[in-house]
Amino acid sequence: SPAATTDSYRPALHYTAKDTWLNDPNGLIFHGGVYHLYYQNNPLGNVWGNMSWGHATSTDLLTWTEHPVAIACDENEDIFSGSIVHDRDNTSGFGTPSVAPLVAIYTSAFKPGSTHEGVQAQSLAYSLDGGYTWIKHTGNPVLSRASAEFRDPKVIWYDGGADSYWVMVAVEAKDFQVVLYKSRDLKTWELLSTFGPANATGGVWECPDLFPLPVDGNPDVVKWVLTVNLNPGGPNNGSAGQYFIGDFDGTTFTSASTVTEGTLEPARLGEYQWLDWGRDYYAAVSFSDAPDNRRLMIGWMNNWEYANHIPTAPWRSPMSLAREVSLQANKGKLRLVQQPAGDWHALAGTEPFSLSGTTIQDGVQVLAGAAGTVQRIDVSFTPGSAEEFGLILRGDGARGTRVGIRPGQDTLLVDRRESGRTDFHASFSSIDTAPILAKQGTYDLTIYVDRCSVEVFAQDGQVTMTELIFPAESSTDLAVYAVGGAATINSLQVTQLA
Ligand code: FRU
Repeated sequence: SPAATTDSYRPALHYTAKDTWLNDPNGLIFHGGVYHLYYQNNPLGNVWGNMSWGHATSTDLLTWTEHPVAIACDENEDIFSGSIVHDRDNTSGFGTPSVAPLVAIYTSAFKPGSTHEGVQAQSLAYSLDGGYTWIKHTGNPVLSRASAEFRDPKVIWYDGGADSYWVMVAVEAKDFQVVLYKSRDLKTWELLSTFGPANATGGVWECPDLFPLPVDGNPDVVKWVLTVNLNPGGPNNGSAGQYFIGDFDGTTFTSASTVTEGTLEPARLGEYQWLDWGRDYYAAVSFSDAPDNRRLMIGWMNNWEYANHIPTAPWRSPMSLAREVSLQANKGKLRLVQQPAGDWHALAGTEPFSLSGTTIQDGVQVLAGAAGTVQRIDVSFTPGSAEEFGLILRGDGARGTRVGIRPGQDTLLVDRRESGRTDFHASFSSIDTAPILAKQGTYDLTIYVDRCSVEVFAQDGQVTMTELIFPAESSTDLAVYAVGGAATINSLQVTQLA
């Protein structure tokens, strides 16, 4: 019988609200020794609405504690996405002699009948108790363009030496444009520049982020990354995030990865740089003040195409795993690589199931002893005569979610047509692909399986694919498969994580 109960889908290692709806991560910040995750939340239901900022904290980025709603909507405004900064020098004046405030910069989506009806503008709230309770600034909104589509401010401290200041990136969503602003006190803002349209423009631009990263870990070679989520227009339909790598001089972001200005898609979607190629990694943004200068991101693990329909209750939508992103140069081309960032060592796991040097013949072979529902799988393949090979996860014999390689097409795929429940929305059942190249003849995948998701980190995190799945609770098989020939498993390790 299909698993329709809440608990068979509720993830073990991903955040979900206890009994309400969530979408975008907001205000990610490491502060007071804990990771704070705020998020778009409907405190009153499990579909989108009544947008407020929910709140959860974690010390290991794997397990989370939910707190009361941090910033609530009211009769005038919904609280849309935004960010939080630690205003160390009390530039805003919201602090006290002993407390430097946390300041949230969020989008006020003004409601019908309110003074700014129909406008989206940027507003402030501050916290003097480390992020648990928030007070709205009386001078809101602080930045308006009289636009209905101006949202999702991400604020950073731009370190320009003697001339340092706050920089905001936000979007004019329907113009496919990132707008950059500058402020010295978080209250008055001055336009610096705009970026876009560029590369993927198949849907509105939302939730941008801007951050510096060293190339190959070398602090003397720093590039800036501009991430832009868009919906729809992703590489496998619906919501997704793209990124640009370039330079930021305190005024203008200059992209070195713009393919061509204009409207080339969808034929050239594969040429753009995607944060993730799966269907369910959206609105990803990074933490402020993460320890050791790490750049950690979390995405909403859902897709606006079917978000309100996924078959969970009373909660709806998980967050992705937290990921560390870094910049790698490879044959002159820079790209983001990603690794899960949680404190995995704390999860003892069981003695891993493992095998090595095994040939997979044409067909499906269930691996006795490797079954489970929450797993980390490390696998390395060498292609043989098979046109496609890979793993079948959360399966029932040969039925399940396929994570495969088509070496002749340089393709990684996640096929969730037989992943369990797919009937709740016409576009959920899918076979999704990403470009992948063999590395010294092998394909290496690290896959995190949780009760309703699969996150694939391929070739050491060079390509990622994140997808929701809704298997029956009893579908726990792990199998290997090959189509039209053989392939070799160089090594396979399966660690049970819950
Ligand atoms: C992205 C988004 C944001 C907006 C928020 C509203 O998923 O549409 O642009 O601020 O969700 O919930």
